[in-house]
Amino acid sequence: MDPLLGTCSLTELRQRKSFKWATYPPDVLPAFVAEMDFAVAEPITRAVTVALARGDTGYAHMGQLGEAFAQFASDRLGWQPDPARMFAIPDVMTGIAEVIEGITPPGAGIIVNPPIYPPFRFRFGFYRRHIIDAPLARDSAGRYRLDPDAIEAALARPDAAVYLLCSPHNPTGNVWSRADLEMVADACQRHKVALLVDEIHAPLVLRGARFVPFLSLDHELTRADSTFAFTSASKGWNIPGLKCGLAVAGSAVGARLLRQRWEALVASHLGILGSVAAFTEALPWLDAVLAQLDQNRVLLTRLLAEHLPGVGYAPPRASFLAWLDCRALGLGDNPAEVFREKGKVALSRGPDFGPQGHGFARLNIGTSPELIEEAVRRIASAL
Ligand SMILES: Cc1ncc(COP(=O)(O)O)c(C=O)c1O
Repeated sequence: MDPLLGTCSLTELRQRKSFKWATYPPDVLPAFVAEMDFAVAEPITRAVTVALARGDTGYAHMGQLGEAFAQFASDRLGWQPDPARMFAIPDVMTGIAEVIEGITPPGAGIIVNPPIYPPFRFRFGFYRRHIIDAPLARDSAGRYRLDPDAIEAALARPDAAVYLLCSPHNPTGNVWSRADLEMVADACQRHKVALLVDEIHAPLVLRGARFVPFLSLDHELTRADSTFAFTSASKGWNIPGLKCGLAVAGSAVGARLLRQRWEALVASHLGILGSVAAFTEALPWLDAVLAQLDQNRVLLTRLLAEHLPGVGYAPPRASFLAWLDCRALGLGDNPAEVFREKGKVALSRGPDFGPQGHGFARLNIGTSPELIEEAVRRIASAL
């Protein structure tokens, strides 16, 4: 591995006290929650430790966050967002929930595309909103795509108020094309349904795929009052514990909504400092991660063919999550349970991603090749 990423020594990782490393006893190898195992990028460590040394631990100020992200978006994503439309948020899910609270009444339906990141399915219930499923379509090779008919049927429901698109998609690793995004935008516009786009995994789009930021499209809906995009350095640079994301409003009215709700959306000051360092100074680190993840997804193809030929896997085109079709193994709805109990390796539970996740499990490959090999060995030993 590139020295920038550290060694992923298991002894050192086990000293971490984060959710990934503290949830299970030491005999279980954690490969579930979306945290990576790489060493933190040095510019981020420096920004945070300098702040601590200065006693600079007060409330957040947006500082250079908007400009830093705008520069990153321009250099890497081909998009020139306006910092005046950007707002720091504590994390992407809180930003999405707050916007949904602001633009829909209780009882509103939120359209999602399962299999999907589990909090999309339960978080909005806290605010008396419910989920409307527009499942992804899946071909025989295990590749997923947006299903225009399912989307149309969901949008046509009278309770449909928001379409929450995950772009790139967790857990399938899809990177939606310009045509996909235009199809979604046209459909939302036709049905007068708000569009929120979660782009948290965008910095991790891998070689061979091209990410299109939704707000960079030349489409009327990108300027609508109820169109918002959400992003963060938290996945790309593995800093969810620093608590900082970004909401980008499509219009001045949307920006006003975010400004009015500032008190519900206060980010962590250290998170803002760390995120600025990530977007501006930690690009060599990001490139090292992208190269490693590209290798890891290929390695997993080889390891599965060798040790687990019954498992279906279409390599992700973005990020570090591998969505494994374990239905042929005959382990029931929740194979992750069997892997953890018998193989001592913890994957994410497929059914949490919706009914389409029955018989599936999600493996985190944001780690060293050695630990991926160990995870596969443990899964195989459970069978
Ligand atoms: C699609 C997606 N959105 C949001 C999140 C959570 O991000 P945050 O901690 O900023 O709420 C994740 C975390 O894995 C995710 O995969």
